[in-house]
Amino acid sequence: MRSWTFPVALQAGPNSGQRNPVFQQIAQAIRADIRRGRLRPGDALPGSRSLAQSLGVHRNTVLAAYRELEAEGWTTAEQRSTRVASDLPEAPARRTRTDRGPGYDLAPPHTPGPWSSLRSGPPGTLSLSGGLPDLRLVPTDLLSRAFRRALRTPALLGYGNPLGEARLRAALGLLLSETRGLAVSADQVLVTPGSQGALDLVARTLLRPGDRVAVEDPGYESAWATLRAAGAELVPVPVDGAGLQVEALEACLRQGPLRAIYLTPHHQYPTTVTMSAPRRLRLLELARQHRIAILEDDYDNEFHFEGRPVLPLAGDDPSGVVLYLGTLSKILAPGLRIGFVTGPRVVVEALAARRAIADGQGNLALQRAAAELLEEGLLQRHARKMRRTYLARRSALATALGRHLGGSASFELPPGGMSLWLRLDPSLDAETWANRALRLGVLVDPGRRFDFHGRPLPNLRLGYAALDERELDEAVRRLARAL
Ligand SMILES: Cc1ncc(COP(=O)(O)O)c(C=O)c1O
Repeated sequence: MRSWTFPVALQAGPNSGQRNPVFQQIAQAIRADIRRGRLRPGDALPGSRSLAQSLGVHRNTVLAAYRELEAEGWTTAEQRSTRVASDLPEAPARRTRTDRGPGYDLAPPHTPGPWSSLRSGPPGTLSLSGGLPDLRLVPTDLLSRAFRRALRTPALLGYGNPLGEARLRAALGLLLSETRGLAVSADQVLVTPGSQGALDLVARTLLRPGDRVAVEDPGYESAWATLRAAGAELVPVPVDGAGLQVEALEACLRQGPLRAIYLTPHHQYPTTVTMSAPRRLRLLELARQHRIAILEDDYDNEFHFEGRPVLPLAGDDPSGVVLYLGTLSKILAPGLRIGFVTGPRVVVEALAARRAIADGQGNLALQRAAAELLEEGLLQRHARKMRRTYLARRSALATALGRHLGGSASFELPPGGMSLWLRLDPSLDAETWANRALRLGVLVDPGRRFDFHGRPLPNLRLGYAALDERELDEAVRRLARAL
């Protein structure tokens, strides 16, 4: 017999608040366990003597409960034992609550976006979707050594500061000041579960339902979903070859105040363009005048190939309007969920207070491991190596596109990042092409995925970092075959 333990404490006596007699409580608990599948048809119940002993009741009380269950058809009495009736329908008895869906309403918005489910093709499908790093090249040995050391540090196994692990915050502060021109101290850095976690925290702290928030169009659907979930009313602002059209933003402002603007100025998602210097200055000035928070998502700063990386908006922000979101998803691995946000101290404190009532602090040991890699310069070295790798892959993709696609599509080499924005010949339909390509074993994102209104765009976005040169060539051959 499978071992079964009586599930609840019995309530007895005049002060227990329990009006059911003890034998009925016993029957009720057994009935509930049969319903939820802890006891299955054919299972033997414990002998009345031993159950009575373990519950501290008289044996007759247990026998009364067993008689009641038998009378109701839940159990059958056999020669020397009582068993759960074998003719009870097993499926309903074992069904869990989640099978049936909730017996209550969810607060909106809870419908998944059209692209939120992962698509997959036949086995061996090569993915040019998203902008993932090559997960085969993650420095797992270094990371696991550092993680093992962190696990041996008892302080990292307890509760900690809602800002996150102190050494990681210090290391990130140093990295930001050395390479991105941001003078931030450790207490202005809050470590989050990815930059998505940072945006969620910022949105919940900053926004009130109905606040208007400007976003890039085309842009990043995951960010839109997060902002909407916090009650924002999104205002799409068009993007061109110099990034977000700030003149269009000014037109939006004439229609009503904006509380925030979310954008990706370094490598615009998905077009990869870098926002021009005059537009940056104008944007910062508008934000100052109108008290708009700029949520700057700089998700792949290290991977810039043409000249030096452009300094973030946050590096030129005397009026304190920018909240800067970063991530280790691209230079290390997205599955580790390490991102961060930095900005004016008061705002970071407010974010920390909010974080304290969400997940508390994040994974301190993992954060310490990442801190060690940064302190020893190992992560920076890995990022430099990957930059060379991805640069070679960008060239390989460009060569393959030229070789296999001919005049069907055109592109500019992206100045940085991990993906390329392909413009299609007007005779081609991006979605039809992407669907056919998937059947031939290559996954690409059609332009509609990035359009604010879900309209078709004559583009494909090709992430090239996760595949090596040979795979990229094969992926583009398959794309060409799908034409
Ligand atoms: C625009 C943008 N922001 C941020 C991220 C990184 O998200 P996270 O740090 O949550 O992994 C990505 C990853 O694809 C992205 O495309």
